[in-house]
Amino acid sequence: MVMRKDSRVDYIVLGGGIAGIRAAIELARGGRVLVLTKDDLYESSTEYAQGGIAAALGEDDEVTLHLHDTLRAGDGLCREEAVRILVEEGPRQIHQLVEWGMRFDLNGMKLAFTREGAHSRSRVLHAHGDSTGSEILRALMAKAKSLPSIELLPHAFAMELLVEDHRVCGVTYLDEKGSTPKCTRASAVLLATGGLGHVYKETTNPSVACGDGVAMAYRAGALLSDMEFVQFHPTALFVKGAPRFLLSEALRGEGGYLRNLLLERFMPRYHEAAELAPRDVVSRAVTLEMQKTRGEFVYLDLTGLDAEHVKKRFPRIYTTCLNYNIDITADLVPIRPAAHYAMGGVATDLDAATSLTHLFAAGEVATTGVHGANRLASNSLLEGLVFGARAAAAMLEKHTPREFPSPQENPHLAAPHAGTTSTPPAPLPVTDFEKAVEEARALLWDKVGIIRNGKHLCEAVKRLEEIQLPEPDPPSRRAYETCNILAVARLIARSALAREESRGAHYRSDFPLKNEAKPARHSYVSNNFPVFFE
Ligand code: FAD
Ligand code: SIN
Repeated sequence: MVMRKDSRVDYIVLGGGIAGIRAAIELARGGRVLVLTKDDLYESSTEYAQGGIAAALGEDDEVTLHLHDTLRAGDGLCREEAVRILVEEGPRQIHQLVEWGMRFDLNGMKLAFTREGAHSRSRVLHAHGDSTGSEILRALMAKAKSLPSIELLPHAFAMELLVEDHRVCGVTYLDEKGSTPKCTRASAVLLATGGLGHVYKETTNPSVACGDGVAMAYRAGALLSDMEFVQFHPTALFVKGAPRFLLSEALRGEGGYLRNLLLERFMPRYHEAAELAPRDVVSRAVTLEMQKTRGEFVYLDLTGLDAEHVKKRFPRIYTTCLNYNIDITADLVPIRPAAHYAMGGVATDLDAATSLTHLFAAGEVATTGVHGANRLASNSLLEGLVFGARAAAAMLEKHTPREFPSPQENPHLAAPHAGTTSTPPAPLPVTDFEKAVEEARALLWDKVGIIRNGKHLCEAVKRLEEIQLPEPDPPSRRAYETCNILAVARLIARSALAREESRGAHYRSDFPLKNEAKPARHSYVSNNFPVFFE
């Protein structure tokens, strides 16, 4: 592969969402920071986050209550130390955001909190009603842009991590201009590439969420953990041919009901918390009701709420639905679940260090252990802030800019050949790349989705292994994304097949019970080991 001459910075951050930008601001104290984002600067899940950010800041709230709610939602698989860090450091990070110009919604002079599923208190802060993520990113970007040592580089698609002598020393990427990869070196690299929703046919995620960071880290030899745990959000707007726009859980927090096609309110039959049960419970209930009524959707009913309040509290959702001729204050809204959030990812310690030296990971790409088997609503923005800042602090402490590795002739670049044979097949035309990705996404949705079983999982694993892709040569963003989606799809399917129990978001109808052995075990996988549990 032809490569342009290397350049150097002190730190590289892959990703411009909440985790990446929070980290970059901290890293700017230590030297030159390069932030790559594969699309426009603001195109990220963070930008679309609606419901809010959870923190124990209310008068009736306590850090220990937030801790317990998070542990309960994680269904026995959270790392308590990591959760403790999240809930204890979270409030300070929120105050810091406010100092940098973040404007949360207020009730008079006090912060306004809303309630979401599985929270025992109203502790979710929000902004512009339902545009919390966009306001957070505005404030973080403004701060980052004011720091001259940060360079923000949009339309720069990271392809591979550069590994020399078992340490990560840089990245290769494609910039806006074309097909000749660039190579930049640094003392340490932070993966903050976000989620993997586009591994599934139905997802709430923006199109940048292809699991690139997980796939890149896997190829470089990093340990991944808990890949089988994918959270499905119960309420994505269902309009044929349209993207699955999220309808925030906060709509149910404010009193919205779910009804099946017979207009029965069904959630009280499934859980004592009804519409505010944990997300996995609600998503399964919606799926079962759809099967029972042979429908493609159920309804979200907001007609019992004050119409003016709904319009004011959820302006983005109200306007977006109106564009589809749905008035959420008067009409029943067709919804169904969609892949939303990855609890699994690149395994890290409490300082965001991965198993590869000089490589760190924070935000949705990472598995710190705070979410366990199921993330509590509105905890991921908080995780991005807390662990983005911690990652940067550890990078500054452990890897000062002085320790540049000297370049080698042949740095190890693990090419994303997603096939299983040693002879790469002939290059596929673009349409075949697209066909392969569509097939993988449909397989994941149909056979590795909300309700799983061994037979379907075996079929998915087998078929995903059969799909062959050539090396992406000449390199292009789409070719790499396709390889990444396929690689991540395989990892999720294999991990889901290996976990023979039901826990949190991983539900197997052939193993409907939780394995009660204590402590609960995490799954791990790397390109050197098949899935194992520990
Ligand atoms: P992101 O914000 O997704 O940013 C990823 C960045 O990585 C982007 O800049 C992208 O361009 C870049 N990137 C990816 N791959 C590459 C590559 N190969 N090369 C270069 N750059 C790359 N969570 C909450 O806590 N509260 C909510 O209310 C909430 N609402 C949500 C609503 C929606 C619709 C969605 C999709 C998610 C929501 N979540 C919410 C989840 C939360 O938004 C995400 O988990 C969180 O924002 C992830 O932040 P991040 O920094 O890890 O990644
Ligand atoms: C939502 O607003 O329902 C999304 C919240 C989250 O994913 O945490």
